[in-house]
Amino acid sequence: MATMSMELEEIGTVFRQWTRSHLLDLEGLSREELVLILDTAARFKNLTGGCRHKISALQGRTVANLFFENSTRTRTSFSLAARRLGADTVEFSAGGSSLSKGETFIDTGKNIEAMNVDVVVVRHQTPGTPHLLAQKLDCAVVNAGDGPHEHPTQGLLDMLTIREHRGEFAGLTVALVGDIAHSRTARSNIWGLKKLGAHVIVCGPSTLVSRRWEELGVEVAYSLDDILPRVDVLNLLRIQFERQYTRPFPSVREYALLYAMNGERMRRAKEDILIMAPGPINRGVEVTPDVADGSHSVILDQVKNGLAVRMAVLWLVVGHLEG
Ligand code: CP
Repeated sequence: MATMSMELEEIGTVFRQWTRSHLLDLEGLSREELVLILDTAARFKNLTGGCRHKISALQGRTVANLFFENSTRTRTSFSLAARRLGADTVEFSAGGSSLSKGETFIDTGKNIEAMNVDVVVVRHQTPGTPHLLAQKLDCAVVNAGDGPHEHPTQGLLDMLTIREHRGEFAGLTVALVGDIAHSRTARSNIWGLKKLGAHVIVCGPSTLVSRRWEELGVEVAYSLDDILPRVDVLNLLRIQFERQYTRPFPSVREYALLYAMNGERMRRAKEDILIMAPGPINRGVEVTPDVADGSHSVILDQVKNGLAVRMAVLWLVVGHLEG
C-alpha cells in the first residue's frame, strides 16, 4: 500500500505538465502532451496490475457518461476506468431520457452537471458537440466520439498498443484501411501518429478516400495489395453505412475482395505485421475471422489498453480542475 501511494504521488508530478480541463481532440495536442497521456496510461496499467485493481485516485469524484450514440467498448471502458480510480459513475443514454420531451442537449448537460458531476464523457453523432459542451459547462469534458470528427481516446489506445508492441513510432508505416471519409478513428490516429513520427497511409475505395488527405501529410492509396508489403501496422476500419447517404461501392462482397485482410493477404504481409481494428468488427468484411483471431491480431489488447488510457485521461482532467 505504501508503494502504491508513493507511486501515485510520483505520477502526481505530471499534473504540473498537464494544462487542459478537457480532452476534445488530438488535433490540438502537442507531441509532448500525447506522450504524457501514453506514459500516464502505462503507469496506471502497471500500478493496477493491468487495470484490474481499484485505487482511490478519484475517490469522491463523479464521472457521467452521456451517450447519444450506441457504444459497447467506449462506454464500458470509461465507466470501468472511473470506478477503478474510485470515482462514482452516472450513465445517461439518449433513449429513455427527457430529450424526447423537448429538452435541449445543453440543458441536458447542465442538469447532469448540476448533480455535482466532475467529468462529462460525451458521445454524439454531431461533430463539435463536446467542444460546445466544454464552452457551456464548468466541469471537465471528454470526447468519446463526435460523429465522423474525432475519437481521441481511441486514437490514444491505438497508439499505446503500437508503442507496447513496437517501442518507437519513427520508422513505422501504419495503414488505416477502409471508410476513411466517415471515420473519427482515422482522424484521431492521423493527428496522433503524425505527431509521434509514424508514416501514415490511408487506403480504401476512392469514394471513401479523397486525395485531399494528402494535405495532412499522409499517403493516399487505393490498393491494399500494393501497399501491403511495406506496412508494419494495419488498422482495419469498419464501413460506416449509418453515416452514408449512398452506397460507396457496388457490394460488400466486392469491398471484401479488394480490402478485407484475409489469410492469403497475410502470407504477403510483413512477418511481424500488427493487425488492429477499433471495433466493432464486421467479420468477413474488413477482416476475416482467422486473421481477427490470429496470432498477429492485437484487437483485444487495444480494448484492454482503452481502460488504461481512459484512467489516465480522467485522472489528468480532474487533476487540472484541482490545480
Ligand atoms: N471503438 C469504439 O468506439 O467502439 P464502440 O462504438 O463500441 O464504443
